Amino acid sequence: MLEKNKKIFLKTYGCQMNVYDSDIMLDQLKKKGYEATSSDAEADLIVLNTCHIREKAAEKVYSELGKYRSLKKKNPSLKIGVAGCVAQAEGNEIIKRQPLVDFVVGPQSYHSISTILERLDDEEKVVNIEFATQEKFSKLKVNGGEKIKPSQFLTVQEGCDKFCAFCVVPYTRGVEVSRSVNEILDDAKNLVKYGAVEITLLGQNVNAYCGLDNNLKERDLSYLINKMSEIANLKRIRFVTSHPADMTEDLIQTFGSNPKLMPYLHLPIQSGSDAILKKMNRRHKVSDYMEVISKLRDVRSDIALSGDFIVGFPEETDEDFKKTIEICHLVRYASAFSFKYSPRPGTPAFERKDLPDSTKTERLSALQAVIKDYQQKFQKNLVGEKLPILAEKSGRAEGQIVGKSPYLQPVFFSGSMELIGKIIDVQIIASEANSLSGVVQQN
Ligand code: 5AD
Ligand code: SF4
Repeated sequence: MLEKNKKIFLKTYGCQMNVYDSDIMLDQLKKKGYEATSSDAEADLIVLNTCHIREKAAEKVYSELGKYRSLKKKNPSLKIGVAGCVAQAEGNEIIKRQPLVDFVVGPQSYHSISTILERLDDEEKVVNIEFATQEKFSKLKVNGGEKIKPSQFLTVQEGCDKFCAFCVVPYTRGVEVSRSVNEILDDAKNLVKYGAVEITLLGQNVNAYCGLDNNLKERDLSYLINKMSEIANLKRIRFVTSHPADMTEDLIQTFGSNPKLMPYLHLPIQSGSDAILKKMNRRHKVSDYMEVISKLRDVRSDIALSGDFIVGFPEETDEDFKKTIEICHLVRYASAFSFKYSPRPGTPAFERKDLPDSTKTERLSALQAVIKDYQQKFQKNLVGEKLPILAEKSGRAEGQIVGKSPYLQPVFFSGSMELIGKIIDVQIIASEANSLSGVVQQN
């Protein structure tokens, strides 16, 4: 049944994969007649697409849900759903803890969200946290025909088989599943047809991509990137997130040989200490990581490197932590994310003794200061350069455009809105905390 004029408020937490998944849910619900709203007060349906990676992220969901009590009192027909990784990890427990919730849907079941809503006509609560990734993908058809933004995400792989000792992803997103080469190429062509100029390939472990081609031959990420780059109007390709152990020689070489692959790589190391990497079950040593970095720089000397770090993992000593700082000096990251270790129930590290929060806080701020410093250095180095910038959208100020550099920094400049969707030469004139500014160069 078509739900005319019904409104959905969808709030997304966590990673890019969730942002992408939220779009899938919206697509499904639009087909049912729902319209998105940015106001929870006027919604007929509220969905929180949640993140379970750290305790804080998961707790936010419960405090947010509590706020909806008064809305539900005013409008008893309001439906509230929890999606994403908290849904997958906690299932029924969510409804027990917060009875306001009407349904729980895991990341592999978004294709069935319309059916879930129909079931709520007869059933009081619905929980669907089955794993059926292929089915979700096959229901995923990009775009209804309207023009889309120049930079788009495209999921090519989901799940992770690495089982790092601290991480919930293998449990919430399941084992690695890759989409077929053709399915991805079809989606990519479709995105480009409606205006995409840049596509970022998404996967929890994207460089472990292993999809079938038409002859049922397994193909890796470098093959996929090279195939995608044959799409004439697709100008830029990126991928995120990668594991050091899956950085194959072919993939490294692609940074040098394929000009459409942008010079940016997010390659988490998590710790600079081999002892901690081992305890984290990371399956690589610091020297393996540094070897990859050095090979990447051989083929693409300007590559911007990014990473993730966890500080205060159980048994991390001051010596171990010093080695993490050393890695930052060696790699000279263009940007990096860092987090205090958060014990997650169900992961092997959960059983180990947690370090005092004060130690974690101290280490985190020391690490972030070093990271920030290198980020500033990287950006300042770009001042004075002429860079090809993808104009993405209008900025807040009149006549301002926000674009993206090859190295992923936002770039602000003035220009005609007709430039949006084009790659233009911009002279970089200044570096701010997290962005650059520049002036368009006339050819
Ligand atoms: N505690 C802190 N950070 C974590 N991450 C994953 N699990 C945890 C955890 N339990 C971080 C890792 C990962 C990023 C997405 O989140 O650095 O790369
Ligand atoms: Fe989690 Fe990444 Fe390790 Fe997989 S490789 S378990 S997603 S941290």
